Amino acid sequence: MRVLGIETSCDETAVAIVEAPAGTRPQGTILANVVYSQQTEHRRFGGVVPEIAARAHLERLDGLVEEALATAGLALGDLDAIAATGGPGLIGGVMVGVMAAKGLAFARRKPFLAVNHLEGHALSVRLTEPVDFPYLLLLVSGGHCQLLTVRGPGDFTRLGTTIDDAVGECFDKAAKLLGLGFPGGPAIERLAKDGDDRRFDLPRPMWRKPGCDFSFSGLKTAVRLAVEKLDAGDERARADLCASFQRTVGDVLADRCANALRAAPPSTLVVAGGVAANLYLRRRLDETARQHGAGLVAPPVALCTDNGAMIAWAGIERLRLGLVDALDFKPRPRWPLDPTAAVRV
Ligand code: KG4
Ligand code: ZN
Repeated sequence: MRVLGIETSCDETAVAIVEAPAGTRPQGTILANVVYSQQTEHRRFGGVVPEIAARAHLERLDGLVEEALATAGLALGDLDAIAATGGPGLIGGVMVGVMAAKGLAFARRKPFLAVNHLEGHALSVRLTEPVDFPYLLLLVSGGHCQLLTVRGPGDFTRLGTTIDDAVGECFDKAAKLLGLGFPGGPAIERLAKDGDDRRFDLPRPMWRKPGCDFSFSGLKTAVRLAVEKLDAGDERARADLCASFQRTVGDVLADRCANALRAAPPSTLVVAGGVAANLYLRRRLDETARQHGAGLVAPPVALCTDNGAMIAWAGIERLRLGLVDALDFKPRPRWPLDPTAAVRV
């Protein structure tokens, strides 16, 4: 089956076409994967401006659908379904993607699939890696920070979540304070490479506490206070602060994952979402997984940040189970993967 996936929930306008056999096995083939990143539109505001994002999606989306079809050498009639992110996210952007997908599905009499953006990240690893359900998932992005057990499409148990900020947001804020631009994660990772990760002693919220919840607002404040004390132009200190910040985040993520692995030991820990692109954090999580007799699996770096391929793949996983959506689906600004109460471990 071949599914076209549309992602417009934040600041990437993305379209992909993915192919996979029927059944339930992981791994598909990406026939096309095009992304228009709106970073230049948002950079001068230091963050994503929802209204600008929605307009930019509207301007680019049709062209990207045509480009994806041309790259794959396919016509709309060759597709089995059209999937789009149905939420959660900036609602103007989500509406643009959902309306486009519904239009294509209606015109071509194809099934329409509304994909939860978080489910897109959560299942993305199975597009490229032979990972079976269930697995433990650390979902770390600009808007989310959660630990979940993933048993299949639509079948998640949340073990813990952030009680304040998401970890990607914390990277972006720290980068902004250091004048490193947006998005902050890649800039911090680059600078941290040359830094001394022990120079700054930053707080590690929730570290060594029971459970799997996260907190990052205290760390954000500590970075602000440290930046205020830096001498302008002290490049060494800036690199040291980035390295210390990244290590602190690594300590916290590793500690929380260790608790989850101890409580419910599946053999695989998966990390996904934009922050999973960070190679230092992957190394730390790999160590933690090994210490608990598990292995770490992550999607390729290019598929960690928002993309259409993860939406097309989640669409395939849903279509395989017959989980299609009606054309009156309403875009959702909020859409938790697991609305039930968190399980305390
Ligand atoms: O998944 P994503 O593209 O969008 C959301 O769904 O939020 O994640 C974007 C987030 C941003 O906060 C960005 O700074 C962070 O992922 N990020 C990184 C790295 N690359 C992207 N954080 C740390 N290190 C990276 N290399
Ligand atoms: Zn995302």
